[in-house]
Amino acid sequence: MKKLIIAVSCLVFAFGIAVYASASDEMPGANPQALWNYITKVSPYTSWGFWPDHKGMLKGRAPHGSWHKVYVNDKALNSSHAPVQYGAIEVKENYNRSKKLKVITVMYKVKGYNPAAGDWFWVKYRLNGKADKFGKPKGCINCHGIRANNDYITVHEFK
Ligand code: HEC
Repeated sequence: MKKLIIAVSCLVFAFGIAVYASASDEMPGANPQALWNYITKVSPYTSWGFWPDHKGMLKGRAPHGSWHKVYVNDKALNSSHAPVQYGAIEVKENYNRSKKLKVITVMYKVKGYNPAAGDWFWVKYRLNGKADKFGKPKGCINCHGIRANNDYITVHEFK
């Protein structure tokens, strides 16, 4: 009986670890709220890195803000060529002329989401996490599409 109890508790323990590990690895779906939760709580983007050729606060071009910072997660950083790995996320903080944070725009690479345009899920967020635009907005895709051979990424050059 004792052995059985020990065996059962070991199983429960192992199962618990497996569930915990998969939950912390789990990526959000192509959904603006789930993605916001992920980039602000599960894996806060401010703790991510920058592309080696695009670090910290830099001057931006229209239609994005005057200044910006582009944070990238490990899946993006570990991609040595275009297209980047699935699960890659880029978070762009858009600042106005006086360097006040205004808008957050995100690109998230989701397998099978939109194969015609690089499988990117696009979102434009207000600072409170409300998504003003999301999904496959033509505007985002058409402009970034000039860079389709660089996986729609504008601030980093894949060799
Ligand atoms: C008219 C062109 C244009 C449109 C429309 C546009 N972008 Fe961009 N985007 C750029 C440029 C240029 C950059 C490079 C940074 C800069 O100069 O501000 C950029 C950079 C970014 C980045 C940083 C990652 C990268 O390297 O590409 C993200 C994320 C992003 N845009 C998201 C979006 C989203 C989401 C939308 C739609 C809501 C959008 N963009 C619409 C031109 C555009």
